[in-house]
Amino acid sequence: MKLLITGSAGMVGQNLLEHPDATNYEVLAPRRSELDLLDISNLKSYLAINQPDMIVHAAGVVGGIQANIAEPVKFLVDNMNMGLNILTTAKSAGIKRFLNLSSSCMYPKDAPNPLREDLILKGELEPTNEGYALAKVVSTRLCEYIHAEDEQFLYKTVIPCNLYGRHDKFDPKNSHMIPAVISKLFDAKKSNLKTVDIWGDGQARREFMYAGDLADFVYYAIRNFERMPQNINVGLGHDFSINEYYAEIARIVGFKGQFVHDLTKPVGMKQKLIDDSRMKSFGWKSSTSLESGLMQTFEYFKDTQ
Ligand SMILES: NC(=O)c1ccc[n+]([C@@H]2O[C@H](COP(=O)([O-])OP(=O)(O)OC[C@H]3O[C@@H](n4cnc5c(N)ncnc54)[C@H](OP(=O)(O)O)[C@@H]3O)[C@@H](O)[C@H]2O)c1
Repeated sequence: MKLLITGSAGMVGQNLLEHPDATNYEVLAPRRSELDLLDISNLKSYLAINQPDMIVHAAGVVGGIQANIAEPVKFLVDNMNMGLNILTTAKSAGIKRFLNLSSSCMYPKDAPNPLREDLILKGELEPTNEGYALAKVVSTRLCEYIHAEDEQFLYKTVIPCNLYGRHDKFDPKNSHMIPAVISKLFDAKKSNLKTVDIWGDGQARREFMYAGDLADFVYYAIRNFERMPQNINVGLGHDFSINEYYAEIARIVGFKGQFVHDLTKPVGMKQKLIDDSRMKSFGWKSSTSLESGLMQTFEYFKDTQ
């Protein structure tokens, strides 16, 4: 099978390429310089020339809370256009299988946890990442519409919880919580700081899965694509508080100082835990513990410094 992976230079894309199952496929992994998803004529000619059997759409403009607040236009427009362009062009090119990567950020901010797949569009979105979430809702719905119009087109959406791992972004402007904390505590240790700030009271809960496990899920999904549900959450099914993440990362990095809570800073949603019932019935579960995932991520961070 010829598999096109978009966003192959990104964290999810790189973990897909590093997974042992990648060798079972003829993988097309163009960089943005070869395939810019915002350029529809580039996209049409790329698909006509290369004719993939299946697309895994892992490209996107992705970032943490600060980047989302600073550039809401880019997060909405680029993600929306990339999704619309690749889905409509793939449909016109007759590509029958499409795995769309969405995010648990698209669930309404007040939705009850654990977040079930049928809660999409059942309430207001979290304002700090609304543009990104809107784009994810649109591509998820478009997959449903394409399949509803012609059931031969299996266009399905995977909704991962937060991810971390090798190939993550560690610069504070673009990073998500785990890489940001690894970098912050590593610097604090090097500078012998006695205290480090935590935004908010640290009681908010987050579910972070190791990106290597998401790659494992994607290959499992490709092998079982006919019976995969239209929309499916992927995660651990359990979460940890921000304070617990800080404590575990401090242990791994070797930071021995104290934490101070800055209650003036935004914290986002109180909890964001996916419901993993569909994932369990589909027959997959994640295998990397928080400790092992954090240690591998920290090794990657040190190697790339
Ligand atoms: N990271 C998470 O915690 C998380 C959680 C849930 C879901 N997801 C979803 O998983 C997917 C991948 O996320 P990620 O963490 O791997 O993000 P990432 O590391 O930022 O990678 C995104 C990739 O998309 C590429 N890209 C951006 N604009 C493009 C364009 N116009 N044309 C072609 N490629 C373009 C980027 O290329 P450049 O390198 O050239 O910029 C980059 O390689 C996204 O859909 C995201 O929403 C991520």
